[in-house]
Amino acid sequence: MIPYIDRCIDIKGRRISPRLLLAPMAGLTNVAFRELAAEYGGFGLMFTEMCSAKALPAENPRVSSVFRWRGPELPYLVCQIFGADRAVMARAAKRIESEGFFGVDINMGCSVAAICKQGAGAALLREPGRAAELVAEVRQAVAIPVSVKFRTGWSDSPGPAAELAGRLAEAGADAFVFHPRVAPDRRSRPPKWSHIQAVKEAVGIPVFGNGEVFSEHDCVRMIETTGCDGVAIGRMALARPWIFAQWARGFEPGGDIYQKCAHRMLELLEKHFEPINALRRYKKWIGYFAANFTYGHGFASRVGRAADIAEARKTVENFFCTDPARNTFPNMNLFI
Ligand SMILES: Cc1cc2nc3c(=O)[nH]c(=O)nc-3n(C[C@H](O)[C@H](O)[C@H](O)COP(=O)(O)O)c2cc1C
Repeated sequence: MIPYIDRCIDIKGRRISPRLLLAPMAGLTNVAFRELAAEYGGFGLMFTEMCSAKALPAENPRVSSVFRWRGPELPYLVCQIFGADRAVMARAAKRIESEGFFGVDINMGCSVAAICKQGAGAALLREPGRAAELVAEVRQAVAIPVSVKFRTGWSDSPGPAAELAGRLAEAGADAFVFHPRVAPDRRSRPPKWSHIQAVKEAVGIPVFGNGEVFSEHDCVRMIETTGCDGVAIGRMALARPWIFAQWARGFEPGGDIYQKCAHRMLELLEKHFEPINALRRYKKWIGYFAANFTYGHGFASRVGRAADIAEARKTVENFFCTDPARNTFPNMNLFI
């Protein structure tokens, strides 16, 4: 258990605790996964998958697979949006506020070509002026907290990131989630945590560090070496959705938690999505969850071949019948 992780922190006057966040992950931090993680607890905020700002004002939560939530999670749920146009982003933020979310997050980290070509995501890191104007417009449009999740930038030095952080904070950002990797790097090289320190020192607002925090020891080390205010967890939370409770509340996972978790995730996906979508999302998630097991790769492949939910469920049942050997730490080769 990490003792000080439970200390409160204010974001635009709104108190959160613990200082552990579920990082946004497309296709993965959907309403079902968030319900699963919420059943264990121990996090301060959760982020949705990224949502298109253009689509969002007309989005119907009953139909949209990304802009969908449960009422009880709204007080700790941040909706992440991507887009390039200030007015469009401001309109989306207004919708998010009117639905009662904790806050709105602006994506300045996604370096997928389809997003960057529109001038959105990490493309904004090339144009600090435009990025700051966008933050200012969103800030003006809503009263809820406005955060920005961003990366180091397109060159691997901390200077431009720290400078950008200063401009975005001046434009009205209330918090940052900072992932210290260059934009085109899709997690092939380790993140440079020292860049988190540079960003933290440049601003007076809360900075949450992010990137390859896989153990309590990593979490403590990130906070102590960078001075960041808290930590956002991505893939480790997919593999072990109880990780927040374990690190912040001293929750001790029992031996059968893996089996129960694998079944519960399928059940929750079925509750929130129609079968084809539920199965697709389960297959995506199981890759990360399977990293917990010595022969996880074969397990994930078998689930990946399931033709329907019943077959996926049977595959999971069969796997746990064999009392599968577990890894102390998830196998990073499956953490794509
Ligand atoms: C499959 C996947 C999807 C992701 N989607 C998003 C996203 O939609 N928005 C975003 O800001 N970051 C996204 N990220 C980046 C994560 O939020 C996080 O920065 C990254 O995984 C590093 O943290 P970790 O080492 O704790 O996983 C994604 C990462 C993964 C693995």
